[in-house]
Amino acid sequence: HPKIEPAIGAIGFSAISPNTAPMTDGVSVPQGYTARVLVSWGDSLTMEPHWDTAGAMDEATQLHTFGAHTDGMHFFPMPGPLGNRRGLLVANSEYCDPALVNNITPAVEYSTAAITLDMVRAQQAAHGVNIVMISKRQGQWEINRRSPFNRRITGNTPCKISGPAAGHDLMKTATDPRGRHVLGTLNNCAHGYTPWGTYLSCEENWNGYFGSRSEAFSPSAHESRYGISKNGFGYRWHEVDERFDVEMHRNEPNRFGWVVEIDPFNPWDTPVKRTALGRFKHESAMVVVDREDRVAVYMGDDERNEYVYKFVSASKMKRGNAASNRNLLEEGILYVARFDADGSGEWLPMVWGQNGLTPENGFADQAEVLIKTRQAADRVGATMMDRPEWIAAHPVTNEIYLTLTNNNRRGSTPTSSNNFDGTSGAGSSRPAIDAANPRPDNDFGHIIRWRDDRGSVQSTYFEWDIFVQCGDKATTKTLGSGYVADGHDGYTGNINGDDYGAPDGLWFDREGRLWIQTDQSGDATGDWINIGGNVMMCADPVSGETRRFLTSPPNSEVTGVVTTPDGRTMFVGIQHPGEDWETDFTDNSAWPDNGYNGSTTFAGVSVHKPRSSIIVITKDDGGVVGS
Ligand code: FEO
Ligand code: CA
Ligand code: CA
Ligand code: CA
Repeated sequence: HPKIEPAIGAIGFSAISPNTAPMTDGVSVPQGYTARVLVSWGDSLTMEPHWDTAGAMDEATQLHTFGAHTDGMHFFPMPGPLGNRRGLLVANSEYCDPALVNNITPAVEYSTAAITLDMVRAQQAAHGVNIVMISKRQGQWEINRRSPFNRRITGNTPCKISGPAAGHDLMKTATDPRGRHVLGTLNNCAHGYTPWGTYLSCEENWNGYFGSRSEAFSPSAHESRYGISKNGFGYRWHEVDERFDVEMHRNEPNRFGWVVEIDPFNPWDTPVKRTALGRFKHESAMVVVDREDRVAVYMGDDERNEYVYKFVSASKMKRGNAASNRNLLEEGILYVARFDADGSGEWLPMVWGQNGLTPENGFADQAEVLIKTRQAADRVGATMMDRPEWIAAHPVTNEIYLTLTNNNRRGSTPTSSNNFDGTSGAGSSRPAIDAANPRPDNDFGHIIRWRDDRGSVQSTYFEWDIFVQCGDKATTKTLGSGYVADGHDGYTGNINGDDYGAPDGLWFDREGRLWIQTDQSGDATGDWINIGGNVMMCADPVSGETRRFLTSPPNSEVTGVVTTPDGRTMFVGIQHPGEDWETDFTDNSAWPDNGYNGSTTFAGVSVHKPRSSIIVITKDDGGVVGS
């Protein structure tokens, strides 16, 4: 293994141009690098055939093929030097485009198409987690289709509910009267991984799958706080799969919104929903172990004006004893962050009986505090943030970085557009700007960072600053009267280098380079005319210098990044190329089957459905990616 640099590994590549109109329908990387497709939605993970993309996906095919809409991922290397050439790639499949899954042609909108349970089962199977053995043979990475480790976890895979909320009345349903077993995990956005070898998968916009056929359905305050509505996001599962009709199964939604722990090296392992980590729209789960072997998990709730959390385990980690650490996330204290104007901050404990978390205020016990994490955080006075997305910890200092992707519901000039899911609760309020969220109508987003006191994850005090305010130096757009000058210039931001906006994925490599992935509209129009489509940037956390490393196909986002231990192979996720739910699913992008990054699975087919894919990036001279 190469030596670990204690400070920053230099950024050695030359930045590439933005993907502006007319956009390139493929992934671009700097000179001296190669990006090649490794796996795409529908590619077989067994010796059974690939999905034939000309038709609809069905449940049986999806259960042995790679899931839709790849998101957070981690590479679990085989032990020793072999780990740079072989390991388990574990990746989330966040959601799906129903029209693509069910092959609903443009002439028929999905919203009015005839729908069957088989169609919904195929969609549910497209969700979840993929565990895939990959290895490098003759210089090329490939799926080991004969590996017994290859596994799909889906929206119907049996999962265990554990921790303080397991067995609570609010978790019980007709099919699970004990409140301890749930079918499936949904909307698995980003992720985390533990030093004891497990993968954490985070349930984000799970509310969108629920709805009700009952005209009389009206969400409770609790349901509204989590964005449950009569029609959800339009998936229509509740029309044919009764489990997703909220009025019939009022507690089923309470069984989603958790962090799920999975042992990828045990194909028979039952995924566990760790309720001690709270219930919200989990983006990612960054695990940090401090010098005293105390374990924390830093987590964001991705919605406008939601919160940042930290879970601290009750027990210390035992080094080299994976089995005894397996339940470390079972018990501990969940905190929520308050960012103060003087650059300090406090972690507020969400402990039943304290800080107003009492029966009079609707919290009968600790389980209810966790099932209603958002309401508990409202009660203790946390700071509403500009959509907390991924969290990354510096590999040497454990300084924590958090992307705040955007927020058009802050300050005096917010737009009237709704959350895409129509969520109410804190998500519908319009707080004033504050020191940690200093821009009204924050279109381009920012990255904040903090340091827990004394480097101890148990500390309830921290210091924070803003790493960068994103923007477009060439924009003519100006902020309205609600803007308070803070030394940055409105929409132009203060990036030292190449411009970008809507930061989302965030990851430190082992030499301390900060990799930033974006999720904006991705069509290179309007606010994005100069910035172009979505990107992955590489930043030096000390100087703040930022260079554009990768651009992605039209209407895709870049999400998920990890390398082999030697840093010489990088895996990057490209999600929803051509995203286009209700119109012609082939008009925006034909990637990757257009062959742009070397995918040959469907070479020769005339019409290509765009497919989320994971690409492999290597440096042509065999060096560390980014160096
Ligand atoms: Fe699934 Fe907040 O991104
Ligand atoms: Ca995201
Ligand atoms: Ca997204
Ligand atoms: Ca996003």
